[in-house]
Amino acid sequence: MSLLELVRGCTFDDFLLAPQLGELPSRNPALVDLSAPFTTGIRLQRPLVSANMDTVTRAAMAIVMAEEGGIGVIDRGFRSGVIEPQVSEVAKVKRTQHGVVADPRSIAPSATVGEARQLMHAARVGTLVVTAPDGRLAGLLTERDVRFVGERLRVDERMTPRERLIVHRGSLGLPEAEQLMVAHKIKKLPLVDDDDRVIGLITSRDLIKHREHPFATRDALGRLRVAAAIGATGDYLERAAELLRAGADALVIDIAHGHSRVMERAMRAVRARFGDVPLVAGNVATAEGVRFLIELGADAVKVGIGPGGGCTTRLATNFGVPQVEALVRCAEAASGRVPLIADGGVRRDGAIVLALLFGGSTVMLGSAFAGTLETPGETVLKPVLMPESQKMVRVPFKVFRGMASVGAVRDRLDLEDADPDELEALGAEGLEVSVPARGSARGVIQNMLRHLCSAISYGGARSLDELRRAFAADPGRFLIRLSAAARAESFQR
Ligand code: XMP
Repeated sequence: MSLLELVRGCTFDDFLLAPQLGELPSRNPALVDLSAPFTTGIRLQRPLVSANMDTVTRAAMAIVMAEEGGIGVIDRGFRSGVIEPQVSEVAKVKRTQHGVVADPRSIAPSATVGEARQLMHAARVGTLVVTAPDGRLAGLLTERDVRFVGERLRVDERMTPRERLIVHRGSLGLPEAEQLMVAHKIKKLPLVDDDDRVIGLITSRDLIKHREHPFATRDALGRLRVAAAIGATGDYLERAAELLRAGADALVIDIAHGHSRVMERAMRAVRARFGDVPLVAGNVATAEGVRFLIELGADAVKVGIGPGGGCTTRLATNFGVPQVEALVRCAEAASGRVPLIADGGVRRDGAIVLALLFGGSTVMLGSAFAGTLETPGETVLKPVLMPESQKMVRVPFKVFRGMASVGAVRDRLDLEDADPDELEALGAEGLEVSVPARGSARGVIQNMLRHLCSAISYGGARSLDELRRAFAADPGRFLIRLSAAARAESFQR
């Protein structure tokens, strides 16, 4: 029986995997290769993506995701025509960490301390490179140099002058920079060219971040990577231009029904205007859908119609494909030409390995992060009756909602005062729920990775890719289709 026949009508909870001879010496995620492509050109060390939903991914979540080796997609759930807030979330991610700061903020020696403070505040940097009018390095000015001193002092009265600085001529790798910093006990290392013009700045703070997050997803300049959603209508082209200017590493055209003429128009327009920018498109759940997006030039395709935790599409329209069947259909059609992102329906960590074996290169998660510290939105205290003590206690909650829920649609359309019945008539396809607030998403991600490593061990492989290859070669060796009783035994606790 073909894999597709085996999984028809099935989703994650329909299967267990039969344990194989364990080969993995350690289940420590630091020692197991979990890398996977997010798009044809961007590889992640960890196969996890946070969903572009307005209660899931803004800068805070995208930073944790990238630091932990995955990537976040900043949602476009800001009002149409209002582009700046999304752009500023991308910019926040891009400026949290650097490798070599390619064009560090600079100031003239004749400027005042007051001006320097303003610039540091506006650019959110703690160090300014002081450059003479001819562009040569004149000194460095740090926050400490301008603390507790008069506004009117000149920068060159407070800076560390060029002759007292350790600098490096030409470009330099981060390990070598670290050696120099240790040897000279310095925290900043300017890089200059033969004419003493600044070509970069390396800071110890950035080096520490690189050491702390060895699996982080970084761009060529050592900054964290981030993707951003743009939609397929309205302001999407202008939005894309601004997001790319802010440094977005990939664009995601995210519409509920990606196999559509609306998508075709949008993809052609994005390709015409932005050339070969990394472009993710979705969502689809069929072979025809995935081929359609690949032919239009997608660099990765998001798969999932209706499995999402905040999603009511299947209830409302009866359209959709069970997620495992969707992944298998799409993987067969894509046949490795572009990576697939398995989007939605992961309600327990065990489903992640299934999503990755059935066809997802990476897995996109929304509700799995609901309520974590890094999700946007306020925490509200709600009274809850404790069953044992019959006492009311106030418990912190956060909102998680589908992007097609009435609340999310209302916020995007600026319809605050609209009649609820009219909003319902817009055809909401999403839920809004309160979930208990919890700790950082970092712990959630790290647990997922530990569980994924355990799954690789049970599967008799030494890396994610090895497990994928073993499964693809002989799915029958792994797959156990569950009876209702077996499902209850497995997943009901
Ligand atoms: P999970 O299960 O991880 O799924 O929460 C996240 C994915 O759900 C999709 N999504 C929606 N689908 N109506 C839908 O039909 C919605 O309102 C909605 N909001 C999110 C989306 O693909 C997301 O990545």
